[in-house]
Amino acid sequence: MIILGIETSCDETSASLVHGQAGKVKILSHVIASQITTHVKYGGVVPEVAARQHVIKIIPVLDSTLKQAKVKPKNIDVIAVTRGPGLITSLRVGTQTAKSLSFAWNKKIVGVNHMEGHIYANWHDHPNTKFPVLCLVVSGGHTELILMTGHGQYQLIGRTRDDAAGEAFDKVAKILQIGYPGGPMIQKLAAQGNPSKFSFPRPMLDQDNYDFSFSGLKTSVQYFIKKEFAGKKVPVNDICAGFQQAVIDVLSEKTISASKKLKVKNIMLAGGVAANSALRNHLDKRINKELPGTGYLVPPLSLCTDNAGMIAVAGYHRATQKDFTPWPKLAADPNWELI
Ligand code: KG4
Ligand code: ZN
Repeated sequence: MIILGIETSCDETSASLVHGQAGKVKILSHVIASQITTHVKYGGVVPEVAARQHVIKIIPVLDSTLKQAKVKPKNIDVIAVTRGPGLITSLRVGTQTAKSLSFAWNKKIVGVNHMEGHIYANWHDHPNTKFPVLCLVVSGGHTELILMTGHGQYQLIGRTRDDAAGEAFDKVAKILQIGYPGGPMIQKLAAQGNPSKFSFPRPMLDQDNYDFSFSGLKTSVQYFIKKEFAGKKVPVNDICAGFQQAVIDVLSEKTISASKKLKVKNIMLAGGVAANSALRNHLDKRINKELPGTGYLVPPLSLCTDNAGMIAVAGYHRATQKDFTPWPKLAADPNWELI
């Protein structure tokens, strides 16, 4: 089965062609047109600007995806498109494009949940993953612990009560004026800093649940800088390292304790923050030590932040269940909850 994936939920215009067979998916082509340089001057994504950029980029992106894969439209079996959650005007560019192509080429559509896409990025390298799986989903808009008991079977174990982990990275980067998106910059500067030099709070670790909260952590970084370094040179690298370690400690602790309780076979990372090498390594070490029989899966770096490859992989699994939507019924849903 050949699937064309389309992703436009936020600020990346992306298309990908994949070949799926017997549970395994091979990426044939993968094109991402990033808008970071457009939004960087605003310090974050401006929805109207993002939607206009998608309109400009979607056809060239599709064209190069088809050319790179040397696939003709007649050979595509299914179009998988992100239907939500995300920015409504951005989502509409992707869904409208998918509807038009479905109408013109007479193809089936799978409307994919963006968060399911992030999770299924793991199935690219690990097609035989055994359930139950605990997914730590960490992106710019979501921070959730999700139990998967089978394909497409989700239970919410915990979630952030305020800011998402990626949002905290972005906001702290804004406070430190080191650019947007904050995650990759903080990771880079933290690598040159001392994570123990300054100690920031580990929110919610004293509570007997699997929820998170990152808003207070961001505020404590802000007050700390104001109180200790007003008018002085800010030790950016050490602050990045201390903040990043606080986030990693909370995410890891909750993930490990939920995994112990739920007795899962595998632990999985998903979402843009899953690209963070310090988080990947820290969880790896803790799982090896504290849960030696449990598998640990991370998505390939190219499928961590928003991309159409992960949407095509998730679309393949949905297509094998015949979970299709006829084009007149396909509608973008900015608030579509996975669970
Ligand atoms: O999944 P994603 O691309 O978009 C959403 O669905 O939100 O995630 C974007 C988020 C941003 O907040 C970004 O700062 C964060 O992921 N991020 C990272 C890293 N790369 C991206 N956070 C920490 N470390 C990274 N290396
Ligand atoms: Zn995303």
